[in-house]
Formats: sequence, C-alpha cells, structure tokens
Amino acid sequence: MAKSGRKASFTSLDKHRKRLAEQPMRVQFAVDPNRFKRYSASAGDLLLDYSKNRIDEDAMAALFDLARAAGVEERRTQMCEGEHINITEDRAVMHMALRYQGNLPVPVDGADVMPAIREVLARIESFSNDVRNGTIRGHTGEQFTDIVNIGIGGSDLGPAMVTLALEPYTRADLRAHYVSNVDGAHIHDILKRLDPKRTMFIVASKTFTTDETMTNAGSARKWLADALGDAAVNDHFAAVSTNIEACQKFGIKQERIFGFWDWVGGRYSVWSAIGLPIAIAVGYDNFAAFLKGADAMDQHFLSTPLEKNLPVIMAVLGVWYRNVWGFSTHAVLPYDQRLSRFAAYLQQQDMESNGKSVTLTGKPVGWSTGPIVWGEPGTNGQHAFYQLIHQGTDVIPCDFLIAARPHEHLPPHHDKLVANVLAQSEALMLGKTEEEVIAELKAQGMDKAQIKALTPHKVFPGNRPSNTLFYPQLTPEMLGSLVALYEHKVFVQGVIWNVNSYDQWGVELGKQLAKALLPKVEGKADAEGHDASTQGLLAYYRDHKA
Ligand code: F6P
Repeated sequence: MAKSGRKASFTSLDKHRKRLAEQPMRVQFAVDPNRFKRYSASAGDLLLDYSKNRIDEDAMAALFDLARAAGVEERRTQMCEGEHINITEDRAVMHMALRYQGNLPVPVDGADVMPAIREVLARIESFSNDVRNGTIRGHTGEQFTDIVNIGIGGSDLGPAMVTLALEPYTRADLRAHYVSNVDGAHIHDILKRLDPKRTMFIVASKTFTTDETMTNAGSARKWLADALGDAAVNDHFAAVSTNIEACQKFGIKQERIFGFWDWVGGRYSVWSAIGLPIAIAVGYDNFAAFLKGADAMDQHFLSTPLEKNLPVIMAVLGVWYRNVWGFSTHAVLPYDQRLSRFAAYLQQQDMESNGKSVTLTGKPVGWSTGPIVWGEPGTNGQHAFYQLIHQGTDVIPCDFLIAARPHEHLPPHHDKLVANVLAQSEALMLGKTEEEVIAELKAQGMDKAQIKALTPHKVFPGNRPSNTLFYPQLTPEMLGSLVALYEHKVFVQGVIWNVNSYDQWGVELGKQLAKALLPKVEGKADAEGHDASTQGLLAYYRDHKA
C-alpha cells in the first residue's frame, strides 16, 4: 500500500468518525441489546469486550479493510517465514519460535532454529532445577536463597514483570531481585539485604556491552569478591547473552552461559534464556506453561480471521483513536496488583517498537504513530489520575484487565475489585448528563442557586472508550497469552503505520552523548564544546559534588 493510499485511508475513515461523533455509546447501547455480543471476542478462555468503543459495524469493517490493505496478513506470513522484516538491522523477527509448541521445523536463514532453542530450554530446565533443589550451591556450600538479575530494558522488564505477576508460584526461600539502573542506589539497596554466600547473579544482556549492565555487574562482582574472595566469583555468576565471547571474557563459566540469537529483539526476549530468573523463581514447569500460553495466542493470531482476531481488533482500535480521533495516549489499567509492572513492560514493547517517524523506506510518515502508553493497577489509579480520564480535556482510551478468580481466598476483596473495574468502564462510557446531575442534587435537597453552581462540576462527558480483558485466573499460561496478545497488537499497528517495529535507533544518541560527557562529568576533561545549558549544568555539578 502506497503512502498516499494510507493517508487516503485515514482520511476516508473520518466519515465514520463524524457519524459516530453524533451517536454516543450510551445511545448505541440503549438501541442495541446485542452490542456486547456483537463486539466481544475470545482466544481460548480470554475474553475481550470491546463494545465500549466509539464504533459501529461500518467503522469496524473499514478498519479491518485498512489492516488488509496495509498488508497485515502478508507481513505476518513474512515474519513467520523468517524474512528479514527488521530491515534496518537486516534481521529476522522470530521470537514466536522461542515458544513454538509444534513439531514442524522453523527455518531462519536456511537452518531450522528449533533444535538450538530446545537445547537451551533443556539447559534452563536443568540449571533452574539444580538451583532450586540445592544441587548447585554457592562457593561455601550454602544453598542459594537470592537470585539477582542484572540487566536493563528487555533484559530486565520482562522477567521482572513476570516474576511479580507469578508471585503465587514462587517459593518464600528463593527470591528473585532485579537490578537495572546505573544509579548506584539500585544495586546498593538490593545488596544491602543479601548474604553473598547465598546470592547468585545473572548478568543478562543481549549485547553484553550495555553500560548500565556492565557497571552493575562490575559492582556485583566486587561485592562478592570483597566478601568471599576472587575464587568465589565463578560459583556465583551466570550469564545470558547473544555475545558468548564477551560472557567468557567477563569470567563466566561455559556451562553457566545461556545463549540466544540476534533474531530475538531485546523487548521480545523474555521467552528466551532471558527468562532464566523466571524459571528459577517459579520453577521450569511454570516457565514452560508461560511459553505455552504465548504459543496459544500465536496460533490464534496466525489462524483467526481478522474480524475475530484479538490482537488485530485491539490494534485497529488503537489506530482508529490515534489517527482518526487524534488521541495521543493509551492507558493500560490492570485490576490485578501483580500486574503492577505490566504497563512499564508494555511501554518498552510498544513505544520502543512503534515510536518511529519514518516509513520502512526512510520517508517521513504523514500520520501519527505509536501512542504514549502508561498505566497503574486499579483500584490505586482511581485515587490518583482517573479524575483526568473521566473529566479532563483529553480522551484516553483504556484497557482494563481483570481475573475472574484470585489466587487467595480473601473475601470480599475480589468481588470489590471486580465491582470497581466494571464501574469504571461503565462510568467512562455512560458519563453523567446535566439532567441527571440536576435530578441528583434536587433529590439531595439543594436549592436552585447551589444546583446551578455545582452542576457543571458534576457533569461527566462520558462516551470515553475502553476495552476489558477478562481471564479466569492469572496463571503462567494466561500471562503468556496476554503478553503475546500485546506483542501482536504492536506488530499489526507497525504494519499499518508502515514503520520498522524492530529497531530502536532512538536510544542511541543519548548513549553516545553520555559517553562523550562522562570524562567531563568526572572532571578529566574541560567542559567545552557544549551548549550553554549543558555547560551550566556541568558547572553546577562540579561545584556541588562531594
Ligand atoms: O534501550 C535499548 C536497548 O537496546 C533495548 O532494546 C534493550 O532491551 C536494552 O537496550 C538492553 O540491551 P542489552 O540486552 O543488549 O543489554
């Protein structure tokens, strides 16, 4: 589809927007008792209710047409067939192979990648079992009680989010910690509670060159050597990387190096050996179930018609709001405390993937691309930023996520949680009209003047869109499905926006400048050659450090 074709499609969608702007959702629900049925779909046990969106059948049909015309189905095939769809890095995009449960070969660059994947999985299984059952111990013979993963971005966010989400599957005597920030406070505050004799470090880095990770790994090694001596270091470190040579140079034993491949993007690497701390924390079987759940979503994505395809539905709705209605942010609001890092995880997955402004051929895009993704668990968010979602001047499409069954038996908590999530999407959709507010205030016995003054503050515009994802329970399998769902959503949007969702050049400039600034910050070089602001800030730092 040519650039002009995409532009024309976005423009032609505007007639649907104009029509729907005149038909608030509350009216659509009132006239159509089948609206939930019409606009909900499932993948296995996972239900997506998208009926509380500004849509009708004509608008949805036009959005699916756009996805088809943009080549979503063709690109999906290209991805599965190992084509180098990450064109700027000349790489295939094959994270789906990491969780593939079938028996067919999966060729990438002419070779089946499944045997190597299975070999690494078998090593993860045996290593995680041995750490959990105490076969692998620390230098002084103590059993490991704490695993510290040192990584950043995709080498941190995925395993950190998953470990938190799967807390019911963890053991109290084996804890996983995540250090990512180059801010020394991060590693300091984690290590201060740990016993070196019982602590294992996993250095996780696709490239094994990322400055934050290497700096933290150096500090961890020093902390360990200071306590137990240099000879102990080997017994307390493992590494995960595509750069095996660099792991060896760091001094990690061969049998403790877990590899993956350049066709796995950093933000798609949780399914690879980057998931090692998950396997240790929740057990290999649960890690395998997480992979299985993702594969189930892959199969749904690959074989379900676009109209019933969860990732595609969520993707086109996102495009609808971003490109036709002009909404710039998207909130992810899990009513699931254990998904408290889910939005942070999705920020990398979505914003690093689709935060682009040139097309695949390097021309400026003529439309908006990735939205700002953010969110916090409910009900906490309700007492923080929901005011703006309900009555602010920006419209923020929301995803609500909720389980039918909690892991703990603590009535009445879960019923209250469910009542709250349902109330929020209902309130956003319905709003509260002036007439309703006046009637309510009258019933409270207020006089005319008070009613007049208060009414505008109490009106809710409503007609604010949301999706609800309902699942039976947050099991490892369901979590795998949810993560894969969002991955495919981002893929579909990247195809529609015609951007490369698999590179991340935008993070490079800051890295380069930080490298150049470091000697000046350290006082080893003159603070010249920078803009006045940077020079002023450097001078302030030099005056105030120590
Ligand atoms: O932030 C850029 C980035 O390259 C991410 O894509 C990646 O997940 C992260 O840095 C960490 O990279 P690595 O795993 O190579 O240390």
